[in-house]
Order: sequence, then C-alpha cells, then structure tokens
Amino acid sequence: MDLKIEKNLEVKYKKLDEIIEKYKKQKGMLIRILQESQDVFGYLPMEVQTYISDKLNIPISTINGIVSFYSLFSQKPQGKYTIGVCLGTACYVKGAQEVLEAIKKELQIDVGETTMDGLFTLKATRCIGACGLAPVITINDEVYGRLTPSDIPAILYKYIKTHKETILSK
Ligand code: FES
Repeated sequence: MDLKIEKNLEVKYKKLDEIIEKYKKQKGMLIRILQESQDVFGYLPMEVQTYISDKLNIPISTINGIVSFYSLFSQKPQGKYTIGVCLGTACYVKGAQEVLEAIKKELQIDVGETTMDGLFTLKATRCIGACGLAPVITINDEVYGRLTPSDIPAILYKYIKTHKETILSK
C-alpha cells in the first residue's frame, strides 16, 4: 500500500479509537459511534464495522443490521458531492420526478449510485422542510429550489468546474 494512504488510514483508525472511547459507556452509543465513524471514513466499509464490533464486543450482525437499515449510513464510498433530490409530497407534486430523471440522465447514474469519477452520489430524500421552494434538491449543504429539469446541467456544471479548478490549483 502507498505509504501516504497507509498513514492516512492509521490516522483515521486512531480517530475511530477516540470516538469509541468517548461514547462507549453512554446509552444509545452505537448509532452515535457509527455516525461519527462515517464522518471520519466517508462511509462505513465492512472493515470498519468489524473493528467497531470487536472493540465493543457487539455482534457484527447487529452492527451491520443497523448500518443496512438506516439510510443515513452508507457501505459504499460516497462522491465528493452528494445530491439529494427531495421526493416528499410537495416536491413530487411540483415535478421532482422529472428533476430526478434529468440528473440521472445527465450523470448516467441511478439513485444510490456514484459517478465513475467519484464526484457525485445521487440520493432520493424525504421532505427537508423547504416545501415552499419545491421542487428542491440539495448538493452537500447547498439548497436549490423551484427547479425545472432544464436547470440541472448548469447546476452540475458549476460543481464540475469548481472541482477542476481545485485540481489545477494544486
Ligand atoms: S416536500 Fe420537498 S422540501 Fe418538503
């Protein structure tokens, strides 16, 4: 393994130990530990789940059951940008499905998938409380509202451009 990647992984596992240590005696700690571990690793691969299972002495089946059940957890690597398309009632009525189709077509991925370049992950979400702006999508922390399918290419291009600029400036 590349030395830099190995070092990076070592740092992440050190953080994981700290998280486990911090919460292990608290009630309902497992979800919290999983959430913070996902923040560190970006997702929850089987190796991380097994590590947590060993450290807490909780069966891996219990941990994997939780990770598989809750949509906030992911077992696959996520893109740099996560697109959430709200499919709540207000958004749905105002054309969220068409917006979703436009994103799928533009990125050539389905819901739950990540683009080959690792840039975008597409998710369908429930109401995010911005119904007045329906139909709504989020890209990481940014919210876009009153969308039509024709708005999608320009929005996505903005992120592609930012990403390219970041790479070129390194
Ligand atoms: S239904 Fe989409 S924000 Fe409420």
